[in-house]
Amino acid sequence: MTIPALIIFGDSIVDQGNNNNLNTFARCNYSPYGKDFRGGIPTGRFCNGKTPADLVAEELGIKEYLPAYLDPNFKDEDALTGASFASGGTGFDPLTSQLSSAFSMSDQLDMFKGYTGKLKAMVGEDRTNQILTNSLFLVVAGSNDLTNTYFTAGIRKLNYDIKAYTDFLVNSASDFIRNLYAAGGRRIGVFGIPPIGCLPSQRTLAGGGLRVCAENYNQAAQLFNAKLSEALHSLTSTLNDRNARLVYIDIYNPLIDIIQHPKKYGFEVVDKGCCGTGTIEVAILCNFTSKMCPDESIYLFWDSFHPTEGGYKVLVKQILHKNVQKFI
Ligand SMILES: *[C@@H]1O[C@H](CO)[C@@H](O)[C@H](O)[C@H]1NC(C)=O
Repeated sequence: MTIPALIIFGDSIVDQGNNNNLNTFARCNYSPYGKDFRGGIPTGRFCNGKTPADLVAEELGIKEYLPAYLDPNFKDEDALTGASFASGGTGFDPLTSQLSSAFSMSDQLDMFKGYTGKLKAMVGEDRTNQILTNSLFLVVAGSNDLTNTYFTAGIRKLNYDIKAYTDFLVNSASDFIRNLYAAGGRRIGVFGIPPIGCLPSQRTLAGGGLRVCAENYNQAAQLFNAKLSEALHSLTSTLNDRNARLVYIDIYNPLIDIIQHPKKYGFEVVDKGCCGTGTIEVAILCNFTSKMCPDESIYLFWDSFHPTEGGYKVLVKQILHKNVQKFI
């Protein structure tokens, strides 16, 4: 299967630096982020090295690094092979991006329309459609909605229980996918939510004195995932183009397996990030004053919310292995 371009929407897992000029706490274009990225360049990726956006682009043989669409060095030619529109701190709930001053999912789709315009100006309408039809579109969001907006800030708890809130999120995700299809996306992979209760910061906030995984957070993620998977299935049958593929991508099970059996994957520390104490530092709290772990290769998490490049590599290999054929 030839995939000409990789086009990504979502949150900090795949933000390649789109937030760099925003006045937001969800930004990390400073050291020690990027410590292992092309000799130590902080680009705004929420990682020590490559993100899943880069790793997928590389594995599919598209390009070595997936640029942020808002990177000042982004050239028109880059649009031929894809970009990330993702923004750290965003979510399917519009309130989530408001709380973090990030780009909403619909902001990201608007940027994508600008991108499509550039492509058309460069190679014409037909070639643009051909590129879009065959490109891989990935959507990675939902974690911030649950961790930040629902559980930590507690705002949505006033009006929604977890059942109603996951319905709301899945409806919002479905709207986004419908709009993405209307904008030309055909091979669309949508990630589920990982076991957010086991993220180091969430263990600290909600896992008690022993910092165990917050089970109610994980159950909320699983509930969302079951509904999302079903929604994608029924949405597919409503689309005119029979060649369109909406694929649910399970990240929950691959990640929880690493957390439960770290040694199997070469990891030793899975309940703390490498940066600082590892229990709470993320974005601005992980900075040049933070003490670093001596060897991040044995850490699953880089900061208290985001995996290391090593962690992402294990996940991306499994995910591609399980899902690539489904886009054909
Ligand atoms: C750097 O992180 C520490 C905690 O790890 C925090 O106390 C400090 O305010 C941060 N520095 C900046 C400039 O934000």
